[in-house]
Amino acid sequence: MEKIRLGRTDMRVSRLGMGAWQFSGDAWGAFSYEQAKAVVAKALEVGINFFDTAAVYGRGRSEEFLGRAIRELGARDQVYIATKIHGDWLRRVDILASVENQRRRLGVDAIDLYQVHWPACWHNTPICETMKTLEELVDRGLVRYIGISNFPLALLEHARSCLSRTDIVTSQNRYNLIEREADKELLPYLRREGIVLIAWSPLAKGVLTGKYTPENLPQFEDVRRNDPLFTPGNLKTAAPVVEELKRIAAKYGKTPAQVALNWLIRDPWIYPIPGAKTPEQVTENAGAVGWLMSDDEWRTLDRLGWDISQRILYVTW
Ligand SMILES: NC(=O)c1ccc[n+]([C@@H]2O[C@H](COP(=O)([O-])OP(=O)(O)OC[C@H]3O[C@@H](n4cnc5c(N)ncnc54)[C@H](OP(=O)(O)O)[C@@H]3O)[C@@H](O)[C@H]2O)c1
Repeated sequence: MEKIRLGRTDMRVSRLGMGAWQFSGDAWGAFSYEQAKAVVAKALEVGINFFDTAAVYGRGRSEEFLGRAIRELGARDQVYIATKIHGDWLRRVDILASVENQRRRLGVDAIDLYQVHWPACWHNTPICETMKTLEELVDRGLVRYIGISNFPLALLEHARSCLSRTDIVTSQNRYNLIEREADKELLPYLRREGIVLIAWSPLAKGVLTGKYTPENLPQFEDVRRNDPLFTPGNLKTAAPVVEELKRIAAKYGKTPAQVALNWLIRDPWIYPIPGAKTPEQVTENAGAVGWLMSDDEWRTLDRLGWDISQRILYVTW
């Protein structure tokens, strides 16, 4: 798979990465270590070398499965591992404790990209305490790069101002064709500043694959049960973009998921990390790379997705 440099880092990453929240065993339903290893093995086979996980995913389970699979597959030197610190553990003492646990679970000396999962919202921890501690981890060689996730722009700017020897290289945010709040102010800033937007839920948790409708919802008790995207009203609102994805997919011999990811990778500052539960999904998602839809098709999708994003309602009662 095509490789790119991840923003201002020295990491040569596959054009898209893979999210490992699916390994948690709770949010996305039961998941065994053997399933996780098969998914990671397929990702390596198709050339994916960037994996995203978090302390909170299955309370360390996703990190453990990912680290163990990479170790057993003998791939540590070929991959980059990004993980996140829990947004409620942002005091210096908590960060110092957590990074040791995370390095142990992942089985690595240094974490390639260490991200603040979400800003402190319960504990009133000063942002500079958090950021200066992360900088200390870089100085000590425990972490190579730092990133943030789910920060509004003003707080991101504040976080950067706390750093003196390093900088934030990535911002991980919800971003897909129909969830576009980052377009309003964050993404223009990131492009200007050379910070990569790592797009989470790039397939809108499966909505953009076209397999879910109000009559055919995810069957299991997973995180989507309470996700507003899956209300019948929002699925109906999203239907025209799914139709357009299907139309473009048919023209190029691709799938709607591949077109939805292809729309994202047109922008060099956007880095999608689709989650996958099976080796087949990994292969399909990797097929989003290596071709481009026409400019006209890209623009039509872009406009349609934007219009729909402004009609999706997160208010559900
Ligand atoms: N920073 C944050 O706060 C944050 C938040 C959320 C996620 N993330 C990260 O972003 C990653 C991706 O986001 P996400 O998992 O929320 O959503 P996503 O990537 O948009 O959707 C993943 C789900 O879509 C389905 N799917 C994937 N590929 C498919 C394909 N080719 N064909 C059909 N269905 C397919 C699978 O579920 P089914 O097969 O069951 O439909 C899979 O679990 C996560 O793994 C995690 O690493 C970060």
